[in-house]
Amino acid sequence: MLWLKGLPVRNRVLLAVTLISALCNIGCSRNSQAEQIARATTGGSAARGATAISRYGCGSCHIIPGVSGASGLAGPPLSGIGNRIYIAGVLQNTPDNMIRWIENPPAVDEHTVMPNLGVRHQDAIDIAGYLYTLQ
Ligand code: HEC
Repeated sequence: MLWLKGLPVRNRVLLAVTLISALCNIGCSRNSQAEQIARATTGGSAARGATAISRYGCGSCHIIPGVSGASGLAGPPLSGIGNRIYIAGVLQNTPDNMIRWIENPPAVDEHTVMPNLGVRHQDAIDIAGYLYTLQ
């Protein structure tokens, strides 16, 4: 889906949701909608992203809807992160930038207190995909 690359995240999500609603019939679950959004934004998997979020312990610092035990208060809540304009106040909110931030925040902003958690590239893609389901 290379042609999607030029579209802002918000439009990709809207497009994904529109396509899903158009294609889905009764059997379609919320879960598969999340997968469609993740695929349309980062090419990742929302289900794998949610698992990776638990594994890396992002929830110890962030409130993350849909991830059990993710109720940390050291960082900002990630609710609605899919609709934000900026990431951590320093990057435009694009899929590539989100992946970059998750992989190594101090490389983006040397003053940030979010640590480099050694997130693998594929995990960052999946995690970013999950985060874009949070509208
Ligand atoms: C030790 C605490 C800590 C951990 C663990 C942590 N973060 Fe963060 N995170 C922060 C802080 C603090 C900020 C705010 C950074 C800033 O503005 O410089 C932040 C910012 C963010 C942002 C930008 C939020 C916004 O409102 O713009 C995202 C996205 C994010 N973190 C995702 C993650 C993910 C995904 C993980 C797990 C891989 C994670 N964080 C793990 C502390 C943490």
